[in-house]
Amino acid sequence: MKTALGRASSLLIFLLLLAELGILPTVAQSRTAPNAQLASKEVNARVEALVKQMTLDEKIGQLVSYSAGFATGPAASNLTYDELVAKGQVGSMLNVVGAGKTNHYQHIAMERARLHIPLLFGLDVIHGHRTTFPIPLAVAASWDTDAAETVARTGAAEARQDGVDWVFSPMVDIARDPRWGRIVESNGEDSYLGSAMARAWVKGYQQGDLSKPDSVAACVKHFAAYGAAIAGRDYNATDMSEITLRQVYLEPYRAAVGAGVATVMSSFNTINGIPATADPFTLTQILRKEWKFDGLVVSDWGAVAELLNHAIGADGTTVARKALEAGLDMDMEGNLFGTTLAAQVRSGKIPEAVVDEAVRRTLRVKFALGLFDHPYTQPGPAYEATPERRAVARKVADETIVLLKNDSVEGVGALLPMKAQGKKVALIGPMADDPIDLLGAWSGQSNAKDVITLKAELSQRLGDRLLYAEGCGLLSGEEANVLKSVTFGATATAEVHGPVPDDAKTIAEAVETAKEADVAILALGEPTNWMEGEASSRVHLGFTGSQEKLLEAVVSTGKPVILVVLAGRPLVLKWAAEHVPAIVEAWSPGIEAGPAVADVLFGDVNPSGKLPASLPRAVGQEPLYYAQLPTGRPAHGDLSRMPHNSEEKFLSRYVDEENSALFPFGWGLSYTRFSYSTPTLSRAEVQLGEILNDHKPVTTVGVDVTNTGSVAGTEVVQLYIRDTVASMEQPVRELKGFARVQLAPGETKHVAFPLGFDELNFYNVEIKRTVEPTTYDIWVGGSSLATAETEFKVSE
Ligand code: NOJ
Repeated sequence: MKTALGRASSLLIFLLLLAELGILPTVAQSRTAPNAQLASKEVNARVEALVKQMTLDEKIGQLVSYSAGFATGPAASNLTYDELVAKGQVGSMLNVVGAGKTNHYQHIAMERARLHIPLLFGLDVIHGHRTTFPIPLAVAASWDTDAAETVARTGAAEARQDGVDWVFSPMVDIARDPRWGRIVESNGEDSYLGSAMARAWVKGYQQGDLSKPDSVAACVKHFAAYGAAIAGRDYNATDMSEITLRQVYLEPYRAAVGAGVATVMSSFNTINGIPATADPFTLTQILRKEWKFDGLVVSDWGAVAELLNHAIGADGTTVARKALEAGLDMDMEGNLFGTTLAAQVRSGKIPEAVVDEAVRRTLRVKFALGLFDHPYTQPGPAYEATPERRAVARKVADETIVLLKNDSVEGVGALLPMKAQGKKVALIGPMADDPIDLLGAWSGQSNAKDVITLKAELSQRLGDRLLYAEGCGLLSGEEANVLKSVTFGATATAEVHGPVPDDAKTIAEAVETAKEADVAILALGEPTNWMEGEASSRVHLGFTGSQEKLLEAVVSTGKPVILVVLAGRPLVLKWAAEHVPAIVEAWSPGIEAGPAVADVLFGDVNPSGKLPASLPRAVGQEPLYYAQLPTGRPAHGDLSRMPHNSEEKFLSRYVDEENSALFPFGWGLSYTRFSYSTPTLSRAEVQLGEILNDHKPVTTVGVDVTNTGSVAGTEVVQLYIRDTVASMEQPVRELKGFARVQLAPGETKHVAFPLGFDELNFYNVEIKRTVEPTTYDIWVGGSSLATAETEFKVSE
């Protein structure tokens, strides 16, 4: 028989074990929680009271999420969803949209299930819900955190009207390789911009108060490093140093957690050999212990069952246990938590405390959302794209458009903004009148009827001075065949966008149309559904189908050509950049596509977007990003400041292409010009101790920005730094500040950027954030090629 002391010490060991696993109950914690509602005493007291009443099966039910009517994989069950909910075997449902449908299941949960625990209704609300805004990559191109917040807040309110209280957004995976189709959902290649955007999306969805009737719980995804899939192939493994993981890839998730995000979705990929779905290092050590996250972690779709394919366990029982013990709380569409955990708890293989903690994390989110008190959705009027909603969508879309090039044409001058009075304009290309693809990937609840296409808008503005030719289909025969061979909607896409029967003929017709006009606008891109987004990796990053041929044919007429690119990823625009004088990157703009593009073409809006990802010269450069580590052999086109001899063969370069981007990160022109003063520092030298002891800013970089042109404009002023000597190699440049500044013609504004530990630190070899004595090069300007420069010294 155990003595009292023995029992106490076993209890202590057990508690220490739980603490080590990061699963100690978190009632009455003393530390600062990133989300005060999830950590509140009131919420946790209600959670504890409920957990005490729950049977093991009811607890496990809370950890199960089903996609109603949309199940794939092993989620087969003989029970209907109604019965599963009534038995308390489901905690959350996804893809149930509309107050009528969500209320149906919620009534069952609240009235027929024993403990009346409300369901959480999740959905992929990615760039708006019914009102479809530009894709997230485009929103990142606005460099306007208020715009991101607006998109999220609008989406939240509309989703909530539809009974959805949990959105699987924002996706903050750093995406440095546009072969990966999910770059469309990302904020691009940079962790500073990505972190700022992550905070804004979370703020917009949650509004600092989950219980507001128009707030939803956000879900930051995909944790972690999903965007670094090897070779840009979706679902592929990720393999990187812990320093790169922390310094670059984890930063935006950390920012989202710091902003109070309520939930996290784990990613499909493995990270350094361990599938993220069952990775205790990311899910427990980093997320719970280091970042103090109190919310819920859901797996990605079927990812617990996919652990069998990752071969980290021979059967469902083992992999489910590994995922749960690693820190995963909810199994989305996998059915393994629901079928394997209870027996393992009963046999003692899994401590019930581990299940309890996952249940607590789930219930906390439901309580914080106020679902126990207000479980139902009041049905509202049918959605309408009202003028007010359109105005918001248009304002955001206006800001996302990037003017890549606007060269002067002999005898005409710059083509943009268009001076179209009295002139005939030929609008050519398969994207010009294609509402579905203008909406962009992940627009499940959008209605193509709400989209104003480029053709519709321009014909309204130009009347019979607008000539139009589709020019060609969006897909070649080969591309259409590939899409037709896959299920799930891609066949329909292939049928809609398949090659036109005789491309040569339609291109010839387009050429004739161009010849009749004074100027041609080419609207080209790629089909967004099934060629962008999930499972849409590409190795060819040109325009699809015969569009490049169409472009070449129209350019060869000698008519001035303006190219509008409508795509969800950086495409290779090399030929276009060499032959087309004006190029506009308009991404997938959403319901206000036509008006927003026209605003920029006609100069009603002066473009202010800047690239959130480098545009390559060739696919072979990928992954291409500006914040590269220096090499010992820098070459022409590198941002490195070391001297190089371009005649030397043995340099870090390609022998058949330049190293540099075709259009670099941060790039974007305006219809006016901006000049920068030499930056100044409030303090040019600071002692290291001051930076380390106090994480407040220690100096301020100041710069005067002047609009030297004749029209008003907005400049995204960008601050880059380089740590010139450090114990770990540091990137050749890193973004550490940005500001959107509106300037009237001739106006000058002073812009100030604080610098302190947060901006200057890096991870050292001991995986600790630090700053060392060094000199920082500092640049301020309108892109990552910024030249206005100063130096900041950190002395010992
Ligand atoms: C799989 C995707 O990876 C994820 O982003 C999405 O939220 C889920 N499916 C749910 O639809």
